[in-house]
This record gives sequence, C-alpha cells and structure tokens, in this order.
Amino acid sequence: MSTTDNLFYDESAPRFFSVDDGCGPVLSVEHSEAEVVLRFGLGSLRITCYRGPLVRMTYSRREEPDLLPSYAVLSEALVPVPVALQEGDGAYHLTADGVTLTVQQDSGALCVRDSAGRLRMADREHGFLRCETAVGLVRELDESVRSYGLGEKTGFLEKRGRVYHMWNSDEPQHHPARDPLYQSVPVLITEGPQAASALFVDAPGSSWFDIDSGREGVYSVSVEADTLDSYLMLGERTAEVVALYGKLTGQMPLPPLWSLGYQQSRYSYETEAEVREIARTFREKKIPCDVLHFDIHYMDGYRVFTWDPLRFPRPAQLLSELLQDGFRVVTIIDPGVKADPGYAVYKSGMEGNHFCHRTDGTVYVGRVWPGEACYPNFFSPRSRDWWAEQHRPLFNAGVSGIWNDMNEPSDFTGDFFHRSSFTPPQDVVAERDGIIRPLSELHNLYGVGMNMATRRAFEQYRPGVRPFVLTRAGYAGVQRYAAVWTGDNHSYWEHMAASIPMLLNLGLSGVAFTGADVGGFQHNATAELFARWIAYGAFTPFFRGHTANDTQRHEPWSFGREVEEIARKMISVRYSLLPYIYSEFARSRRDGLPVMRPLFLDYPDDPRLCNLNDQYLFGTSLLVAPVLQPGKVTREVYLPEGVWYDFWTGTRHDGPADIVARAPLSVIPLFVAGGSVIPRTRPADHTKSAAWNPLELYVYPSRGSAGAGTSFTLHEDDGFSTAWTEGSYRSTDITLRTDEEGHTLELLVTHDGFDPGRTSLSVILPPGRDPGAYRARGMPGTEVSGGTFEKRENEWVAEIALVPGTNSLTARWK
Ligand code: GLC
Repeated sequence: MSTTDNLFYDESAPRFFSVDDGCGPVLSVEHSEAEVVLRFGLGSLRITCYRGPLVRMTYSRREEPDLLPSYAVLSEALVPVPVALQEGDGAYHLTADGVTLTVQQDSGALCVRDSAGRLRMADREHGFLRCETAVGLVRELDESVRSYGLGEKTGFLEKRGRVYHMWNSDEPQHHPARDPLYQSVPVLITEGPQAASALFVDAPGSSWFDIDSGREGVYSVSVEADTLDSYLMLGERTAEVVALYGKLTGQMPLPPLWSLGYQQSRYSYETEAEVREIARTFREKKIPCDVLHFDIHYMDGYRVFTWDPLRFPRPAQLLSELLQDGFRVVTIIDPGVKADPGYAVYKSGMEGNHFCHRTDGTVYVGRVWPGEACYPNFFSPRSRDWWAEQHRPLFNAGVSGIWNDMNEPSDFTGDFFHRSSFTPPQDVVAERDGIIRPLSELHNLYGVGMNMATRRAFEQYRPGVRPFVLTRAGYAGVQRYAAVWTGDNHSYWEHMAASIPMLLNLGLSGVAFTGADVGGFQHNATAELFARWIAYGAFTPFFRGHTANDTQRHEPWSFGREVEEIARKMISVRYSLLPYIYSEFARSRRDGLPVMRPLFLDYPDDPRLCNLNDQYLFGTSLLVAPVLQPGKVTREVYLPEGVWYDFWTGTRHDGPADIVARAPLSVIPLFVAGGSVIPRTRPADHTKSAAWNPLELYVYPSRGSAGAGTSFTLHEDDGFSTAWTEGSYRSTDITLRTDEEGHTLELLVTHDGFDPGRTSLSVILPPGRDPGAYRARGMPGTEVSGGTFEKRENEWVAEIALVPGTNSLTARWK
C-alpha cells in the first residue's frame, strides 16, 4: 500500500508493500474447544472467542506467540465460548456465539460476519503481514464507516486520513498534525450505517495505525514486535462497543468527590507563603476550590519524596491548616530519581536494585528535572512496592492526591527536536516476569506501572480512602489507576478547541476522567481566552487551572474584575451541579461510557453529529457549546432531535434546529435535553460529602408522550471512603414522564445503604406556563404533601417534605 503522498506519514513507520509480506497459505489447523490455531507458511494465528461477542486474534511470525501477561486486559472479562470449525470453498469457517470467521486457505485473509450475516471485518487481499521489524494487518474501511478512539490524539473527532503512532512521548507542541503525544490507547472504533466495532491491539511497544491515509479505503495496523495480539468487539452502535471495551480493560473507580471540584495549579506555587496567599484569596473572594497542586518546587532540589526545608519548612502543619479550610493538596511526582549518593531514595533504590539498567548491566542514568536521574523499574512488583513505600513523607504530611508526571518516560538526554526519542535510549532494559527485556518493548506501559505503584501507596498509607492519582502518560486500562490530563498545551484558542475532540476520543477509548490545563499551560492567556476556557473547563470531567513557570499569573482573579466574576460564576455552577456530575461518574463507572460524550454517541442516527468537534454532552443530559474564538457574542449551535432547554434562561427549543445562541463573555451556551432531571445543590466553598443537601431536582419535560420516560440514577455516599464499595451508598432512580395527564416525577430508592439525612427536596421547573398545584405521595400510599409551585425569581419551585424512611416518592402536576 502506498502512503508516500501523505504529509503526516512518519517515514519510520513499518510498511507492507508486497505479497511477500503476507503470512502465506494455511499449512495446518489445530482445533480445541474454544480455540483454533492456524499455521501459515510464515507464522501462526491463534483465534479464541469470548462472550461479547469478542474475538481474539493473536498472530505471531514465530511458531508460538511470545506474549507477556497483559496489563490492559482483565482476565475475568475473557469468558471463552466454544468454537466450531468447518472447511469448504477453499477456506476455514469458525463459528462461535453467532459470529463466523472465515480464513482463506491460500492467503490467510480473514473476514468476520455477524449472526445477521453482515460483513463486519475483512482483510484486504492478505491475512496478517510481517516484515523484518513488524507484524501487521490491512483491512477494508468503507467510506461510509467512521473511525474514532485511538486515545489522546490531535486532530478532529473522526480519525480517517492520517497515520497515528502509539508511542508515549513528552511532546509539548500540540500542533494539529503533531503525533504522538503522551498517551497510547491502541483501540480503533469504527461505526458504519450497519453496525459498530472496536479493534483493540494490545501492543505495549511501538505500534502504528494508518487510518486510510492513502485514500484506498483501508486501515492498517503495524506493531513493532513479533506478535500482534488483537481483540475485535462487535456491536450495533459505538456505545455498545465502548461498553465492551470497558469490560475488557476495566473501568475507572469512583473518584473522591473533592477531585471533581475546582483544582488550582501553577508551576509552581513556590513557597508556603505563596500557597497560603492563594488559598486565602480563594476563600476571601468566595471562589469555590477544593485542591491546590504543588508542582516540583516543593521538593528539595527536585528530589522526589522530599520537602524543600526553606520553602516548605512545616508541610504537615501547612497541609492540616489548608485542610481545615477545605483545601486538599496534590503533589507532583516524577519517576526520575536524582542520582545522588547522599539521597535516601536513590540509595535504597540502588541497594534494592530497583532501577532500569543498560544492556551492559550498569544502572542507566538519564537526565530530568533534578539533573542526572535513574528510572525505577515499574514492571517489577517488588520495585512497585518499594516505590509505594517512598510516599511516606508525603502522606505523613497529609497529602491527598498524587500527580504523576514525566512518565512516558521523558529523558532530556534524548533528541530534543524529535520528541519520540526524548526517552531513554534503545539499550535500556528492565526486568519483567524474571526476564530482562528492552524498555522499548514495554515503553507505553511505563506510566501505567508507575500509577499502579502509586495506588499501592494509597493502599498502604490511606487504607479505606479513595485514591486520587493524576497521570500524564498511560496506556489502555490506565483508567483503572488514574485520571488523565493532556499535558503541556498552550494558551491558544486553537488548543482550547483541539482539546474537545481529544478528550472525546479519550472517553471513547475508555478513559473517562480527563481534562486539559484550563487557561493553557505555555504562553500567556488573555482575559477573554481565560474567561472562555474556565467556562468550558467547568464542563469537563477533570477541572484544573494550570500554567507554566514563565507565564503571567493565571488564577481566576488574575484578569480583572469582570473575568473574576465570570470564573466565580462558572466554578459555582459546577459546584451546584455536583450531584449530577458525581452521579454521572458513578454511571460511567458502571457502564464504561464516557462522562464527556460526543453527540453521536447518544444521537446515533443524526449524520450531522458524526464529526462535530465544537459541541458535546457533559453527562447524558447537558449539551455544551463552548465559545472557541475571540470577539464573539453569539454562537451557532446545532440541537439534535428532541426538546432542548437553555440552561440559563429555560427557553425551550425544538430540535433538530440550528440556532444562534446568545454568548456574551459571561455565558457559555448550555442546553438540557428534554425529559431530563438534573439534580443540583447549593454551591459551597468546597465539597464535603455526597449527601446532597439541599437537593434540587431541575425538571425538563419532553414532548408529551405516553413513553416510558427517562431515568437518572442519583448516587449518594460519604464522598471519600471506599465504604461505598461495601454497600454504604444510596441509589435513587429518578424518572420523569409526560403524558396527556400532565407530568409525573418518580423517585425510587434502589439501594439504601447510606442516609443523606434529608427532610425535604425541591422540584424546580424552567420558566414558562404556571404549573399550578402538585400532589406528592410517598409509597406505599403515604400522602407526603401537596401544594402549589411557587415562583422564585424566574423558576417554579415546589418544596416537598420527606417522611423519614420513605424510599419512594411520586409527584404529579399538570
Ligand atoms: C511538565 C508537566 C507540567 C509541569 C512541569 C513541571 O511540563 O507537563 O504540567 O508543570 O512539567 O513539573
């Protein structure tokens, strides 16, 4: 396949040009209950089918695949199903769970059909391919099929037309064509008019995805290894295959509530006095904030796990006072350990043989912030335990969260101008499972290994408390260990806009807890950019303002009174929405679907949404349309099918419709889907527990119909401990129905392991026709209250008293 006309193509990517690269004809077949092994002229293919439908295809150019246990795939997700094998028409036909896989005997070319007989995957010409340095595949990609996923990538939502390299890199230039960045999630999601599928290629070393860059109607994958281990998931729609992928690689644990509040960072708040000043200003100005990040200056000479004795002489006292004032502290940690014989972490790392080596057996010394530094071997459980242990000085001082940076890993001895090489050199090795391996083979897992070690530290020092770990580098499955931020963006309007499709595709790639540096990391934000970005950031899962050391101040009050007021408003709205946001996180943990969602996920039949890059859903009900250019006071918004309400004014729109939304600097266009109930609370300086008091149910009726209504599950618990995993939580299904009789709101407690201590709740309607009287009753049959909706500013409010112990409630009004 020719890719030479593609500007984005990296010349170092392996390519497959000739028929000689094919695996050749099938020479023999072995069949057991759940597995078929085919041996070709060149290499072998093992096919295993699991419940899903999920087909695993492992091709190796060797006799047997040389696979290490996966860090990404959960073994419990692999439930084998029996495979039947038949031969005929020059091919082998494997059938399992309604899926038929055909392998041509002469070429090894594969195709997959589903139970309805639809063609779901087809090799172009040959089966698996191999060349000197890589193995790969080339498959049909019809022009009606759209491509998504691939983790953290630049470019638009739809990924066709480019080559993407999976190789974690410390890449601070996020230009539209720049690739790769820090994270590698090798999952390709495709959706066509017929159905959707996801192909996960479990390749922790270097791999490449060419999504039809040569415009030949194909995609190709090449993995720089002897084995290509892949999982094909089939569904009707993207949502289904994303959920299957979530089962395969695991879901994010429910984060502590405080980590969903606003987080403030700078590289760095350099002294105790500066930190106190920042904290005091937040409280004085009544701008909600839960977290302060300590960047590398808190350390003693950038030695990880130390405190600078002059800048932060009494960390425990400082952190305890901050906590009393509702501020949690998250400290940055880099993997590079300063090579300093007088430094305890280095000494114990050397004594315990915890660092990566060179092939000559010496400990590798690279260069990062502290100067010469060694890299822990996070692939050894023993070294992960050692790393976890090192967190003691941080947890003893009262640190609440850990921010893992530079873990691609970044190495300043590499090629500054070619950031894929800004990492330890080729001759660096690490021991994994008792065998010494080139670090490059494990490269994309380095950050995940570090995050595993950090979670271990939480288990050790904070048992029973939900960890908060933030990471820059990661791989498939990273969501089980850490939230992800997208690294060193710039204060450019373009970078704010580019972060939307990047975060959306991360979400489709299983990573739900994500965000970009609000305001931009490098460069100086303008007041206008900052105001727009903080408004948008308030509606992203991870919400943190951060900026580099050589930039002007980027705190919410750094841009004058008007922008400060806007920041206060947007952050406060986020806090008022925490019952909704937290419940959406709980939902995402259950179903594996993202919190920040491309619109096509929920409106799959609308072709206008397939590559919509400047609008999205935050949670399942809230449509966000950020303003992404300077000088605007309005914004074009496309509202898909259904009823939509302006979040700010309550004005009703009937979709599908193109509207021009009012968007002065103080307004971000937001719309609520008709049929939704959005639980809110009163904003506070900082979060406390997820027992929502007061609880305000904002109700947005849909068009009258006798349909089943829409449901939202409200999640409540203590907000910080792991007790909820033992049942200490409350789940309430909230359903809104609209029919000729009027509106019915039903609350049904489906799990009652936590008492939020509420004695009333309010139901709030958007402005419009006077709703008049309501009747409310607790089940079974206990009249709770009734009355009329009262007008409060421009909303209609009904206060409903709750009888203790009532675990269901119905409210009706006309
Ligand atoms: C890296 C991180 C950035 C951090 C800086 C200093 O550039 O991406 O967030 O502020 O290092 O630690």
